Amino acid sequence: MPLSVNAIPGPKGLPGVGVAPRLLNDPLDFLLRIHRHYGDLVKLPLGKHTMYLAVHPDMIKRITQENWKNYIKQYTTMEDILGQGLVTSNGDHWLRQRRLIQPAFHHQRITQMATVMVEEAERMLERWEAYARHRQPVDIQAELMLLAEKIIVRTMFSTSLSDTEAAQVGKAFNDTLNWVAGQQFRLLQPPRSWPTPANRRYYRNLTLLERTVYRLINERQQRQGEHDDLLEMLVSARDADTGEPMSPKQIRDEVMTIFLAGHETTAGTLSWILHLLAHYGDSERKLRAEYAAVLGGRNPTPADLPQLRYSRMVIDETLRLYPPTWLLTRTLVGPDTLGDYELPAGATVALSPYVTHRHPAFWPNAESFDPERFHPETVAGRHKFAYVPFLSGPRQCIGNNFALMEMQMVLPMILQRFHVSAIPGYPVRPIAKATLRPGPQQWMEVRKVG
Ligand code: HEM
Repeated sequence: MPLSVNAIPGPKGLPGVGVAPRLLNDPLDFLLRIHRHYGDLVKLPLGKHTMYLAVHPDMIKRITQENWKNYIKQYTTMEDILGQGLVTSNGDHWLRQRRLIQPAFHHQRITQMATVMVEEAERMLERWEAYARHRQPVDIQAELMLLAEKIIVRTMFSTSLSDTEAAQVGKAFNDTLNWVAGQQFRLLQPPRSWPTPANRRYYRNLTLLERTVYRLINERQQRQGEHDDLLEMLVSARDADTGEPMSPKQIRDEVMTIFLAGHETTAGTLSWILHLLAHYGDSERKLRAEYAAVLGGRNPTPADLPQLRYSRMVIDETLRLYPPTWLLTRTLVGPDTLGDYELPAGATVALSPYVTHRHPAFWPNAESFDPERFHPETVAGRHKFAYVPFLSGPRQCIGNNFALMEMQMVLPMILQRFHVSAIPGYPVRPIAKATLRPGPQQWMEVRKVG
């Protein structure tokens, strides 16, 4: 017989606001601590609301796979930006859109996109040559954001953004999302309709994003049939029953979603990899040796990837320590049992890959960076749901293989040409907002190899 929801342990917090200030102030440290203290299911009072943090891999399995239909998304704060796109929608609508979009991510298609990834990385590295010559510090994260943005726009929408436009759009996305993420646990906030400076900035950014997205769509509608990409799938889709095309607003939502989901996370992970390698010399040496043996200085092709085993392990371990989507939520449609407890319909459950990836029962010495954890034999012996950077089940990330391909192509290109090192006096401080990133900026030094 499961125990009542009222028996779930957790911190009390302050009257009226619960633990919201602590969650806002230092969420990563706070979530880790409460897991250590209270266990695998923790009750978090947040003023008027309560959230239940579910950490154990069995619970992740239950929520995302076994009983996934009972756990829906209510990402209302993201509604303005992503509308009813693939990340935020639910039910039949989501399923229809997922089926329609899935073919854009087939293995063969992604493999063909590798050429674009290499071309865009080449352009970025040409810029780095100049930085290296002038010994100019580089904001690595800004560079990688720009790169990932250009790759997503070219591969999915077959068009290019200028450097200036890409930088503006990237910043607008970043500011908008961080603002939304910050709002989530903030209790006292002016309504969005009030003309506060922050609200005005938010709507200015949103307008810029929409203008760019509608421009892409309009251009395509005028030149339909010339490309074979995701945008073409969206504009040419017809409803099986009614024969109706997708509404402009729905196309906008999907384009905005892929644009956003397809660059922040990958760029953030590449940034973390370079940060970690700069501090773990042995791993970096091993990685360089693998690149020398397999590639010998040339650019990778998708056919090389199975041989770049250690490189893949470095990526996996980075996604373990710093999963970009560090906190996700679901709302229960009907009651369900998690662990020893019965949760009622309407309850909000939070999943944190960041905390589950540090669960001491599955990850010994969890804070240390050790790519060997992803040796295939070690992986086979571990609970499958203890590692969920892309989540699991039917709502797993649609872009996981795309992201992995991008990182596997770009990383050897960077490291075969440059040493990337930390600059003393510029410490990295994880920022957990919409995604988990190594600080607002990430100044590093690049030097030519050889
Ligand atoms: C390292 C890179 C990435 C990580 C860690 C990541 C992680 C995730 C996670 C955890 C989810 C589930 C979100 C939730 O349940 O609320 C998700 C969903 C999604 N991701 Fe990714 N993602 C990455 C890259 C990408 C890329 C490159 C694309 C597109 C090109 C993409 C597109 C999406 C979409 C459309 C969804 C919603 C899928 C659905 O619900 O059907 N992601 N991602």
